[in-house]
Amino acid sequence: MQTNEYKDIMLSFEEYTSKLSVILPKIYGRKPLACVNTFGCQQNVSDSEKIKGILENAGYEITEDDENADFVLFNTCAVREHAEDRVFGNIGRMKALKKQREGMLVAVCGCMAQQQRICDRVKNSYPYVDILFGTRHAHKLPEYIYKRLTGSTRIFDISEDFSGFLEGMPIHRDGKLKGWLPIMYGCDNFCTYCIVPHVRGRERSRNSCEIIREAESMVAAGFKEIMLLGQNVNSYGKGLSEDINFAGLLEKINAIPGDFRIRFMTSHPKDCTIELLDTIARCEKVETHLHLPFQSGSDRVLKAMNRKYDSAGYLNLIKEAKKRIPGVSFTSDIIVGFPGETYEDFKETLRIVKEVKFQALFTFIYSKRYGTPAATMEDPVTRAEKGKWFSELLQVQEEISKRNYASYVGTTHRVLCDEVKENGKLTGKTLSAVEIEFEGDPALLGQFVDVRVDRFSNILEGTKL
Ligand code: 5AD
Ligand code: SF4
Repeated sequence: MQTNEYKDIMLSFEEYTSKLSVILPKIYGRKPLACVNTFGCQQNVSDSEKIKGILENAGYEITEDDENADFVLFNTCAVREHAEDRVFGNIGRMKALKKQREGMLVAVCGCMAQQQRICDRVKNSYPYVDILFGTRHAHKLPEYIYKRLTGSTRIFDISEDFSGFLEGMPIHRDGKLKGWLPIMYGCDNFCTYCIVPHVRGRERSRNSCEIIREAESMVAAGFKEIMLLGQNVNSYGKGLSEDINFAGLLEKINAIPGDFRIRFMTSHPKDCTIELLDTIARCEKVETHLHLPFQSGSDRVLKAMNRKYDSAGYLNLIKEAKKRIPGVSFTSDIIVGFPGETYEDFKETLRIVKEVKFQALFTFIYSKRYGTPAATMEDPVTRAEKGKWFSELLQVQEEISKRNYASYVGTTHRVLCDEVKENGKLTGKTLSAVEIEFEGDPALLGQFVDVRVDRFSNILEGTKL
């Protein structure tokens, strides 16, 4: 991005933030409340933390209660149809609330909003939505709100004029222990089923010095776990003027002094290198866990999905990771019922699941996404049939999870104690991202403790040593 364009955007951001902070107390006679409802992936959760930071900076107080908020924003997900339905249901709830609450504004943003057909639908059928913007313009939120509050007509902005991202935006972090750190935005892979590249645009990596600065400030603020985020973190660095890749970035973050852990997601198998596996093994703060979606075990389906690896290549990668990273665990995403997939293809997926023995799986029935190549492919298998395959997959994985859990009994792990559960017990994750529940003082929250695994139910259960 041109430096001048960047400067202009920042100036405009600051100008509208200060204008908005002047009019808000006049309009509401108090500090107005803002609620950000987030749907979808970790990237959205991270974006929402920035949006909350921007709102707070302009004079709003952040609340979790959208029924009493003066500004309600829905940060939406488009990855599957179910996510879209949920969003529309929630937006619908705002109609009655808005009638009761003078001066209330409703806004929609994110991946779903970025699509023209959704923008049109909101414009025509949801007249109580005041502001809609997509994935590129969170920094313009103070301007949109200011304009709407001072008499502008409803605002719809899904332009793609700005494809960069702004450094140094305010941020309201939800947690104090575990924090998100986006290292890149967008995606270049165009898997044929996926809407993400269409709504989030091309892949852009952040400069490593900005990432390191943010990681250092998180460590200084007491964060114990940093989750590096990107649609495909393994291709980090592509297009940057500096000579760096994801392995190099991990080394740099690992070198920051302090007792903390580094996690990352999502890895694409086609860009997962031996160099990266060796780096993970060498860097003591980096998790020994790979979220490595394989989507399908059938080479024919993988080709139709445009995944650019085959099942043998995937299994070889798993073998290399097991060899090089002691105690490594794997999780994956799988799509069941891609257009044209047969039961024979699906059995290939089961074969990979049985062979790798994943710690956990994120499984999805294929959802047709308008505008993607797969949406025009023949899809003869019924939803009911796909549902049966899906249940079979869950059953197979359940058995594997049990056997995985059984193999942990008697072993001891250093876990980051990160949650007090409703039953009063503590939980923490191992370096390989496996959760263990144990009895302990809530004062242990945020500390690393050694726990021995004694048994398991639907979670590993252990004793603090
Ligand atoms: N249908 C079903 N699942 C999908 N995913 C992405 N697009 C679709 C779709 N159209 C899944 C993939 C991806 C995860 C984030 O969501 O498995 O890895
Ligand atoms: Fe979607 Fe594929 Fe990009 Fe992941 S890598 S966001 S599945 S296009």
